[in-house]
Amino acid sequence: MRFIRNFAGALCMMAAVSCGQSSGEQEVAVSADGNTNPVIENIMARRSIRRYKDTVVDRKIMEQILLCGINAPNGQNKQSWEVRVVDNPATMEEIKAMMADGLPEEEAERARVSFRGAPVMVFIARDLSYDFSAYDCGLLAQNMMLSATSLGVGSICLGSPVRAVYNSPKAEAVIEKLGFSKGYELCLCVGFGYADETPDAKPRDWGKVKFLD
Ligand SMILES: Cc1cc2nc3c(=O)[nH]c(=O)nc-3n(C[C@H](O)[C@H](O)[C@H](O)COP(=O)(O)O)c2cc1C
Repeated sequence: MRFIRNFAGALCMMAAVSCGQSSGEQEVAVSADGNTNPVIENIMARRSIRRYKDTVVDRKIMEQILLCGINAPNGQNKQSWEVRVVDNPATMEEIKAMMADGLPEEEAERARVSFRGAPVMVFIARDLSYDFSAYDCGLLAQNMMLSATSLGVGSICLGSPVRAVYNSPKAEAVIEKLGFSKGYELCLCVGFGYADETPDAKPRDWGKVKFLD
């Protein structure tokens, strides 16, 4: 079993794999010939950010990120998502307060911190009438996070605010505030902002991947 421990290690591992080395014995730096691949570098550089600067991401930049999101592959091009963007600090606080309202203090605090301090939050709802809509929403989220990385914007995919919303006595009010259409259900959040930390890559288990002969 092999773990990818950091960006450089991951690049070495990928190079080894692309050279047909399944166990990575012969590791070659991707950039050895001076030709790096910016898409692969971007994918390997993305990390979940849990500390943000206060600066809100400019709407023009967020529009670019959202445009990349809705260009994700999606089943039958149904675009089985709806997206709501909150970048107004007052609205963000209002939503957090609604989520926490009526909960015991410990749960209320968990709900409040579930956004991980991101100054921009994208709420994604899935079309309940389409069985693959959760995958569509995941791909939308990933396109947004990767494009954000390429633009110097940090991001984090978040499931816990979704749980917090549905756990809240005020769930209906929060959903109404987000304004999703009937037949859509909140399924994922993605936070954006400028990173105030540089986390290391978490280990990946290469043993979960196998080529079949
Ligand atoms: C569906 C999904 C839900 C997640 N929910 C949370 C969450 O609620 N809180 C959190 O801090 N991170 C959350 N994450 C981020 C993961 O913890 C993170 O992607 C994982 O640890 C790998 O780290 P990396 O993104 O830096 O590579 C979530 C990620 C995904 C894909």
